[in-house]
Amino acid sequence: MKAVCWHGAKDVRVETVPDPKIINPRDAIVKITSTAICGSDLHLYDGFIPTMEKGDILGHEFMGEVVEIGSAVKNIKIGDRVVVPFTISCGNCYFCQRDYWSLCDNSNPNGWMAETLMGYSPSGLFGYSHMMGGYAGGQAEYARVPFADVGLFKIPDGLTDEQVLFLTDVFPTGYMAAENCNIKPGDIVAIWGCGPVGQFAIKSAYLLGAERVIAIDRVPERLQMAKEYGNAEVLNYEEVDVGEALKEMTGGRGPDAVMDAVGMEAHGTDFMALYDKAKQAVRLETDRPTALRQVILSCSKGGHVSIPGVYGGFLDKVPMGAAMNKGLTFKTGQTHVHKYLRPLLEYIQNGKIDPTFIITHRLPLEQAPHGYEIFKHKKDNCIKVVLKP
Ligand SMILES: NC(=O)c1ccc[n+]([C@@H]2O[C@H](COP(=O)([O-])OP(=O)(O)OC[C@H]3O[C@@H](n4cnc5c(N)ncnc54)[C@H](O)[C@@H]3O)[C@@H](O)[C@H]2O)c1
Ligand SMILES: [Zn+2]
Ligand SMILES: [Zn+2]
Repeated sequence: MKAVCWHGAKDVRVETVPDPKIINPRDAIVKITSTAICGSDLHLYDGFIPTMEKGDILGHEFMGEVVEIGSAVKNIKIGDRVVVPFTISCGNCYFCQRDYWSLCDNSNPNGWMAETLMGYSPSGLFGYSHMMGGYAGGQAEYARVPFADVGLFKIPDGLTDEQVLFLTDVFPTGYMAAENCNIKPGDIVAIWGCGPVGQFAIKSAYLLGAERVIAIDRVPERLQMAKEYGNAEVLNYEEVDVGEALKEMTGGRGPDAVMDAVGMEAHGTDFMALYDKAKQAVRLETDRPTALRQVILSCSKGGHVSIPGVYGGFLDKVPMGAAMNKGLTFKTGQTHVHKYLRPLLEYIQNGKIDPTFIITHRLPLEQAPHGYEIFKHKKDNCIKVVLKP
């Protein structure tokens, strides 16, 4: 089959690789009909996530048709149309039972690698390094889905791929990030990053009752989308002092909740951003917490800090003193996707949200390297690429 393979920083190739096979009785094989490129893939593309190996198949946002099932999968049939959560979860362990699906104890065969860095291992993820399980991803013609009885979500007839594809990640991710803001009536939420995660977070914050959402980025078409589709007030961090602007817009109090939907590759305009860039380049720092610092400093006293943005390792000069003394509450994590599939599908079915607004590019799988390039560099107004194998 054809698949998008990682070969090093800024080097992805579409190659012919062996078809996946059923290995365990709870596996299924899915023939992929749509798959997307995510901001998380850019961290791999830029070479900032350790334990990638040349030839690894990328991709964790995919859906398609079931073409083979293991003997233990009883609730799914060949021919079913399914979406696949990007987190791999067993459904039975202590964490899955508590709805902490991205913290599954049984799905990362390389858990020891993550334990070295993090103390305990989160769940396995599709196409996201050997530390996260070494699973082949879904930017391919076929993928093997482990724990398919809980890892496949059947899609009712009458919905297109593009309406449901983002249930695999970015819609639940934006939604969980908004839930993590603990929104109460009257709340003002500020969201850094207007990529796909930020856009779904804006919509979700309103769905959860926010009074106002303020969105921050520097890319004009992303700010425009936040305004037009998300009904957010917007700030361009290259044009204004974000901290000051937020203070002014909130009557001096600061936003009740703040969100970092940027992650480890933040840009910045100040001295600290240069410092991060230099340190990350020589591997003295794993991540660039430029947005995170601003998020924490801008938050109202007693506020909530939600961090869907991905961080990989150890962050420098994070203002923990501000966090502690202002009494902030932090919530973060890879998304517990399984938990959100049914309720968010209902939002789509009853017309509360149409996730297709985010798509700017549809490309054949063969053009994945071009897709990565334009998404990374925000060329051609690219916000979200869907690949068709
Ligand atoms: N927690 C999860 O489960 C989960 C799931 C999906 C994605 N993510 C992460 O969420 C983050 C965003 O993903 P995405 O797909 O939207 O990616 P993206 O790269 O398209 O979006 C990031 C946006 O942040 C903006 N940005 C950069 N520096 C900024 C700054 N200092 N202030 C404000 N905005 C800034 C960029 O211009 C860009 O528009 C990534 O880190 C990704 O890995 C997490
Ligand atoms: Zn993703
Ligand atoms: Zn589990």
